[in-house]
Amino acid sequence: MSPAERINELRSLLERHNRLYYVEAQPEISDADYDKLFRELEDLEARHPELDDPNSPTRRVGGTPLAGFEQVRHPAPMLSIDDVFSEEEVADFYQRLRKNLGTGSVPVTIEPKIDGVAASLVYRNGSLDYGATRGDGVTGDDITANLRTIPTLPLTLAQATPALLEVRGEVFMPGEAFARLNEEREEAGLATFANPRNATAGTLKQLDSRAVARRPLAFIAHGLGSFEGVELPDEHAFRSLLVTCGIPCNEPLWIADELDDILAAIHELDKKRHQLPYATDGAVIKVASFPDRVALGATSRAPRWAVAFKYPPEQKPTRLLDVTVQVGRSGILTPVAELEPVGLSGTTVSRATLHNESFIHERDIRIGDTVLVHKSGEIIPEVLKVITGKRPADATPFSMPEHLEGKCPTCAAPITRRENTETKERPVVTWWCENPLCPKQAVAALVHFAQRKALDLEGLGESVAIKLVESGLAISPLDLFFLEVEKLANLLLDPARLQTGEISKPRRLGEKKAHLLIDSIRNAPTTQPLSRWIFAIGIPQIGESASRELSRLHETLPEIASSNLLRIICRIADLEAERKLLSPQNKDNPPADQQEKETRRSRQEELKTEIRESHAGIAEFEISPDIGAVASRNLLSFFESEHGRRFMECFRQLGLNPHSDNFAPRPVEAAASGDVPLAGKTFVITGTLSLARSYYKTLIEQKGGKVTGSISRNTSYLLAGEGGGSKRDKASSLGVTVISEDELQSMLA
Ligand code: IVH
Repeated sequence: MSPAERINELRSLLERHNRLYYVEAQPEISDADYDKLFRELEDLEARHPELDDPNSPTRRVGGTPLAGFEQVRHPAPMLSIDDVFSEEEVADFYQRLRKNLGTGSVPVTIEPKIDGVAASLVYRNGSLDYGATRGDGVTGDDITANLRTIPTLPLTLAQATPALLEVRGEVFMPGEAFARLNEEREEAGLATFANPRNATAGTLKQLDSRAVARRPLAFIAHGLGSFEGVELPDEHAFRSLLVTCGIPCNEPLWIADELDDILAAIHELDKKRHQLPYATDGAVIKVASFPDRVALGATSRAPRWAVAFKYPPEQKPTRLLDVTVQVGRSGILTPVAELEPVGLSGTTVSRATLHNESFIHERDIRIGDTVLVHKSGEIIPEVLKVITGKRPADATPFSMPEHLEGKCPTCAAPITRRENTETKERPVVTWWCENPLCPKQAVAALVHFAQRKALDLEGLGESVAIKLVESGLAISPLDLFFLEVEKLANLLLDPARLQTGEISKPRRLGEKKAHLLIDSIRNAPTTQPLSRWIFAIGIPQIGESASRELSRLHETLPEIASSNLLRIICRIADLEAERKLLSPQNKDNPPADQQEKETRRSRQEELKTEIRESHAGIAEFEISPDIGAVASRNLLSFFESEHGRRFMECFRQLGLNPHSDNFAPRPVEAAASGDVPLAGKTFVITGTLSLARSYYKTLIEQKGGKVTGSISRNTSYLLAGEGGGSKRDKASSLGVTVISEDELQSMLA
């Protein structure tokens, strides 16, 4: 099979498995097998750039940031939809349909209205041509690169497909993903998104599609735009086409041809809608027959063949009984509203996050107030506003330091105030417990350190972590390295509830579990790569993908601690902040007189130049947006902090020096640092290696070497994995030295 054929085969295989996994939720192969196919394709594509295709499954991770979005004109305008708010208005609509079509009964469909961001996808001959936002309805932004990252959106269609298919639908962020994103942002002291729709819109507006790929978006189709193919008679035929093409369509669906059944469907949907993965505040009623839709036509604003019934917003008043404070893993103190229980969107709500002190003060929320609550994005209970007319005379304003008497509610350490001005909106004031030994934080830090995605330590869950902290055996993850089997085995755990319903006596952890845990700690330094360690440390904003990115750019922890790249990223943010402050558009800081205006203007120019130069200096590294200014600052301040210094000192004492397994910065860095042990050497790579060939290629190049495709007398080394027979033979006949991966690594050490 030629490389071109194999590439095509792999692309359609991967797209099929992607669909089975994400759309049909019926995977046929394991994640590991999927990854294997994926890597094979990546590898082939790297060797055959001439066979590039922007719709290859490997492109879902995003690409080079854009300077701005191109505008595209929609083949047919993207209309809005008329809203109705009562059963009478639904009856009027249905009556109008019957009158205009001149028949007694008109079949209609009823489906959820997705509260997302509208998108139009244009497929030509089964391949995604482009995708756009609604914009003003006539032209929209070309957001193809961002849309490609959405796993439920097919890049190539499954089967014999129409020549042209424009699908319209909604992009949304599933409820759980939205909740997690906001939690992370809150932990990092960033402003949270008001609802999943805003989070989706904000994500799709990003010019860097790699940042979009990291946000879990989904797509569901609900309508047909322009079309060239076998004529579609009705909604049913359209939906069958979507299914054969592998495009997810909007469910559940009701079909009705009588007013009573339409109203019944609307009521049934109201009961089900809180279980849907997206937020929905309405039901869309559409004429089923396509010729009837054409006959009914549209106004300049909306079609006459559809309406959206809007459910009344679920907001209820209740009393704010108290405000309590939660301590997060990073030490952030989150105020929580303790409410008089109230039924809302399908559940009973008695607590709601108040996010941070700014949120409370902006809304002037006081204890004792009657507040209006709703569920943000139908999921997260939130206080909307105070009903000031109902404010009792003794309502008390909330101040974090007063409420906590200046002390962390868990460990009584003094609390500190931070103001984050890096968010685009207003500055956000948060309060923190900065004591790394705070029990609440200590337990969370141990659990985080031990979890599967971090160091994967055996048997260190929350219950054991609590006891380790309570007994003083381990307060910081570093203490784990000094645990002794005997003491650990004697750790007393909480009594358990037995199957008979009785409560057991307190139990010892026992020798077996103690041995397992200690062995997995001892083995971690040799089995876990740098990225897991850096993630395990638990620095705010440094999640899994940021950790992978750090270990792509740095080989060891000390390199991260003294990273120039991170310093430059912080420097750029500082310069940007100064530029914003001095900007003539900044109404909060107008220049006092003409002279100041002049000095500011010239400083602005200097700043612009320095920002441009700094960007240019690091552009080569293609640093992912996971490592932004906030993350970089958090990293550097960790390594400079007392706690961070102790970490590094302990690592040194124990002889721990985790190495990266994906270190592959761009070539320039090596050249600039003068560390080029392979200068003048030419390599050929063959056989099956434990890491991607592209990894070794970059590694060799950044150490000053060259990689070529075929062996000659000028080749210095053949880097050979398993197999690779013919090149090995040629190497030995030409007297070229054959080396293994390990030998290459030791040449570089
Ligand atoms: S059908 C041309 N069905 O809501 C109008 N639209 O507020 C026909 N929307 O523009 C649209 N869920 O972007 C339809 N199930 C659904 C929908 C839906 C969400 C969006 C759509 C529309 C907007 C109007």
